[in-house]
Amino acid sequence: MKKARFPKDSYVTMTEFVLPNDTNTLNNLMGGRMMHWMDIVGAISAQRHCNRVVVTASVDNIQFRNPIKLGNVVTLEAKVTRAFNSSMEVNIIVHAEDIPAGFKQKTNEAFLTFVAVDQTGKPIDVPEVTPETEHEKFLWDGALRRRELRLILSGRMAPADATALKGIFDIKDTLYPAS
Ligand SMILES: CC(C)(COP(=O)(O)OP(=O)(O)OC[C@H]1O[C@@H](n2cnc3c(N)ncnc32)[C@H](O)[C@@H]1OP(=O)(O)O)[C@@H](O)C(=O)NCCC(=O)NCCS
Repeated sequence: MKKARFPKDSYVTMTEFVLPNDTNTLNNLMGGRMMHWMDIVGAISAQRHCNRVVVTASVDNIQFRNPIKLGNVVTLEAKVTRAFNSSMEVNIIVHAEDIPAGFKQKTNEAFLTFVAVDQTGKPIDVPEVTPETEHEKFLWDGALRRRELRLILSGRMAPADATALKGIFDIKDTLYPAS
C-alpha cells in the first residue's frame, strides 16, 4: 500500500470570472458551466492525491443554492476526503463573490468520485487519506456511508452488502414490525 496522504496535499482552488458566454438569458451562470468547473477542479484534486490519471466515476447530488450573476468571481475549492481502493471521494465547495458590492456567499457543494486508472483504463490502487482536522475526520467518517449509497443507487452494490448503511434499507422491518 502506498504511503497515506493528508487532505491538504490534494487541496486545489480555482477562480473563474463569469462572462456573458457563461450565462443564461437571466444573466445567471449556467448550471452546466458550473458542473464543468467542478469536474475539472475535482479531477485535479484527485490527481494531486494519487499522482495518476483519473476519470470521473460519479457525481453526487449538486445543490444550486443561489444564482451566480454575470460579473461574479467564482472560487471552487476541492480536497480528497477519503480514498478506498482505486476510487477517491472529492468534496467541492463553491463561493461566488460580487467584488464591487463586497458580497460573498456559498453557492454550491458536491461530492464527486474519481478513479485512478493506468494507460489501458484499468483501475489502480491509490494512497489512503489520513484526516487531520475535526472537519476532515467528519468527512472521512461519512465517506463510507456516501460510497455505499452511491454504489447502491448505481446498481453496483446490493443493499444487503452495505455495512455502514446497514438497517437503512430494511424498510420492510420498519414498516411492518414483527408482531
Ligand atoms: C470508473 C471506471 C474506471 C470503473 O471501472 P470498472 O471496470 O467498473 O472497475 P471496478 O468495478 O473495479 O471499480 C473501480 C472503482 O470504481 C468505483 N466505482 C465504479 N463505479 C462507480 C460509481 N458509479 N460511483 C462511485 N464509484 C464507482 C468502484 O467502487 C471501485 O472503487 P474502489 O476501487 O475504490 O473499490 C469505468 O467505469 C470507467 O472508465 N467509466 C468511464 C469514466 C469516464 O469516462 N468518465 C468521464 C470522463 S473522465
